[in-house]
Amino acid sequence: RPGAQEWVPQGGGVEDLREAAGGCRGCELWKDATQTVFSTGAAQASMMLVGEQPGDREDRLGEPFVGPAGRMLDDALDAAGIARTSVYLTNAVKHFRFELRGKRRIHQKPVTGQVVACHPWLEAEVAAVRPRVIVAMGATAARSVLGRPVTIGDVRGAEIDAQVWPGVAVLVTVHPSSLLRLRDDADRHAAFRGFVADLHAATELAE
Ligand code: URA
Ligand code: SF4
Repeated sequence: RPGAQEWVPQGGGVEDLREAAGGCRGCELWKDATQTVFSTGAAQASMMLVGEQPGDREDRLGEPFVGPAGRMLDDALDAAGIARTSVYLTNAVKHFRFELRGKRRIHQKPVTGQVVACHPWLEAEVAAVRPRVIVAMGATAARSVLGRPVTIGDVRGAEIDAQVWPGVAVLVTVHPSSLLRLRDDADRHAAFRGFVADLHAATELAE
């Protein structure tokens, strides 16, 4: 069976998982990417935030959310009164998927097969961290966390009766990079406030 499962150490802590993920060949994305980008943050966090996949900067630096989307996320966490170091931050897919245009590497959304292939890592991360709440940011994260496709606009902002992990609440929100794409200042500010409100709602589920 294709997928990451054979690389995932059973019962591993976050550091065991991080080390093993460096050698994952569970799908084809490792070939063109620089390195596996695993998680960052607290290994014993009550809140886990899940993004889509590393971007160009994350791929080069080996750290999630260190580029423009990461700055937007930092601002939103700040505004929601959440310390970045207190949460566990990871991605649905651990390698950067891109298309070369000249010398530029253009982000491409991972396909469902890649999201499914990488899911055993997320499963193992939830088992290791045991968060109270998982915040899925954007459609790719939601697809991985819930195991089914959802429309963000329909489900965002409130706890979902996900029944995926007992005792773990799931909340879906937008991806921070969706805010970066809004050119109109008023639209972007409104979207930012909505994102902050969702993060704040998640803190209540984490208590
Ligand atoms: N976008 C993501 O979803 N994750 C990152 O780590 C960076 C950008
Ligand atoms: Fe493994 Fe995930 Fe990377 Fe694919 S994207 S090689 S499944 S870590």
